[in-house]
Amino acid sequence: MTNDTNFDAPNLDALWMPFTSNRAFKARPKLLTAAKGMYYTAHDGREILDGTSGLWCVNAGHGREAITAAITRQAAEMDFAHSFNMGHPLAFAFAERLARVTPFDLKRIFLTNSGSESVDTALKIALAYQRVRGQGTKTRLIGRERAYHGVGFGGISVGGIVKNRMWFGPGLPGVDHLRHTHLPDLNRFSQGQPEHGADLADDLERLVQLHDASTIAAVIVEPVMGSTGVLVPPKGYLQRLRALCDQYDILLIFDEVITGFGRLGAAFGADHFGVRPDMMCLAKGLTNAAVPAGAVAVSTRIYDTFMQMSETPIELFHGYTYSGHPLACAAGIATLDIYESEGLFARAGSLAGYWQDALHSLKDARHVSDIRNIGLVGGIELEPRPGMATARASEVFDRCYDKGLLIRVTGDIIALSPPLIVEKDQIDRIVTTIREALNETP
Ligand SMILES: Cc1ncc(COP(=O)(O)O)c(C=O)c1O
Repeated sequence: MTNDTNFDAPNLDALWMPFTSNRAFKARPKLLTAAKGMYYTAHDGREILDGTSGLWCVNAGHGREAITAAITRQAAEMDFAHSFNMGHPLAFAFAERLARVTPFDLKRIFLTNSGSESVDTALKIALAYQRVRGQGTKTRLIGRERAYHGVGFGGISVGGIVKNRMWFGPGLPGVDHLRHTHLPDLNRFSQGQPEHGADLADDLERLVQLHDASTIAAVIVEPVMGSTGVLVPPKGYLQRLRALCDQYDILLIFDEVITGFGRLGAAFGADHFGVRPDMMCLAKGLTNAAVPAGAVAVSTRIYDTFMQMSETPIELFHGYTYSGHPLACAAGIATLDIYESEGLFARAGSLAGYWQDALHSLKDARHVSDIRNIGLVGGIELEPRPGMATARASEVFDRCYDKGLLIRVTGDIIALSPPLIVEKDQIDRIVTTIREALNETP
């Protein structure tokens, strides 16, 4: 490991790193030691431009002082209080603050600690809701091929990324999947929403024919698929899915863990596409990632059904020790205040055109087979190296890192999602660096 003079290199043996080639990483570590604004500092002292908001989560940029101050104040005042038949004011204030930005009637908030927990929570609320309202045969959950819904057993069951599922047994019973919407032959190099593929929503009809609507509780989709490599929904697709869910009395859950908090240039994907889900799964940008936190925004109709029809004193047998953790609530309120006072969601929207042009300027770059974009999200798909899937993208990742740019790669796709404070010259630098890295990569 190359060190700057102040860096005290840790022993790397004990930590089993998540979603990582531990062997490759430990042979060539990349350690980040500080972060401010658009930049990380690497262990060798270099500045690294953050092209991915950490992991799609630091939407307001790094090291925001108001968030740090709120966390510090709260830690000194009350480190922890739980929310099981007890409460503390900040959890209520945070829920109320969040419900001011959630769209439609999604005004009841269940607090969790991560996106995976938000997904499992939403799936459990869907099942319990059907039962509470006397539709207890509705137990099936419908996900989608290629989907990423975190790593809980619920999330991997409705998820559709093969490697995330195949190692871990059969998953939840009674789960089925819609087809994914990736149609490269029809939609290659689409700018924003692709023209073709709205009819893929009709795949829900196939599952209704197969299972009958009386057995289906909910459909869950990411409005824009992120971790599978940025798949933007075809025009009309989400609207069609909503209409079918209404027709068959099936709940529609949007997993907005990535699309939430301004990523698309509006508060949520539901706002951007003008489609009303019955629940939204949130995390990541909720606290600007300064404290782990998640939430499920639930329609008042669903919440009221529990309050009116539950026959048990506790209406939902579900929750986490850290649901509504005071530090997360403090961070969340400070984060939402920053988004509002700096108009960051609108800022992302106003940069989306520049972002789109910059990304699509890579159309002629070496190895590029497709480019997709929406809001401040981008996906650049590469031709895989024959017989060595993922090798090319992973080398591009290393080259970008060496050149001072953090990108994310998934399979042979580069996924980009800079903080919403990104400047135009930084967008230019992201694109130039990627072009150089592609050129140098065989
Ligand atoms: C759409 C979506 N859902 C759920 C998750 C899981 O979130 P977490 O890693 O916080 O559990 C992610 C993480 O990337 C995500 O993109």
